[in-house]
Amino acid sequence: MTHGSSEQNDVPEKPVIITINGRPCRAGKGETVLAVAIREGIPVPHLCHEESLAPYGACRLCLVEAGKPGKTEMTTACTLKAADGLEVITDTPQIVKHRSILFELYLAEAPKSEVIKEMAARYGVTKTRFLKKMETDDPLSEKCVLCGLCVRVCNEIMGAGAINFINRGPYTVVNTPFLEPSADCYGCGACVKVCPTHAVVMEEAGSERVMRSWSGTRVPLAACSCCGMYYAPRELAARTLAALDPHLDQDLAGLCPACRGKRIAEREILARQGGAGNHA
Ligand code: SF4
Ligand code: FES
Repeated sequence: MTHGSSEQNDVPEKPVIITINGRPCRAGKGETVLAVAIREGIPVPHLCHEESLAPYGACRLCLVEAGKPGKTEMTTACTLKAADGLEVITDTPQIVKHRSILFELYLAEAPKSEVIKEMAARYGVTKTRFLKKMETDDPLSEKCVLCGLCVRVCNEIMGAGAINFINRGPYTVVNTPFLEPSADCYGCGACVKVCPTHAVVMEEAGSERVMRSWSGTRVPLAACSCCGMYYAPRELAARTLAALDPHLDQDLAGLCPACRGKRIAEREILARQGGAGNHA
């Protein structure tokens, strides 16, 4: 049995070739059409795609026409797995029309987002016929397209669940429960990184990281016991180190990555010198 399965593993996998706008493109195993297009530099607008998260299909901007010749349909490229022989067109007149309407919606949803304005302008959309978002005192909501990436990364990757959608209809925003500072937020900044419209704001204030967008949540930072620099959210740094090396000694655990690297190198040199001395 074992012998048979190792032989099977030796058989090279048949490459998956799809065409995008007539161009043959090689696809990796399980890769989505959007991932192939991004890798090949073929522009397909998208807002809710993030490599580290499962496809979600929320923003609908990545619509493409795909299928076998003569039998195609409109579908989202981020949820469509590349299959051998698949033909994809990224910009039919119907798709352009759909995207243009979506951009009008997003201009209404996030009137202060320069990212959305730029994306929309590429489709000749500079104004919106839709009602603009209700005025709120939340600066985040004026740039937020409610794609949900920050909520998902906080929940699914970090396991913190510090933020979520709150309110309903035109009042929907992403924030902490009851708009109060969150005790669950690690201050990791993953939400800042994944936000496609740069709506999420955090800043360092001395010994704390302040998550401005999340009701002013303040997270204490760890200070390096050698150089004194604040280098990472304290709890997150401790958890990460414990997960990476549960036996790390306290001397090293209190150092920032740069000082830790130096200290380890010094120890290695001393150990080598000691070893050489013993040998002599
Ligand atoms: S803050 Fe950014 S990541 Fe979060 S829902 Fe809004 S646009 Fe998406
Ligand atoms: S990126 Fe495909 S639906 Fe948003």
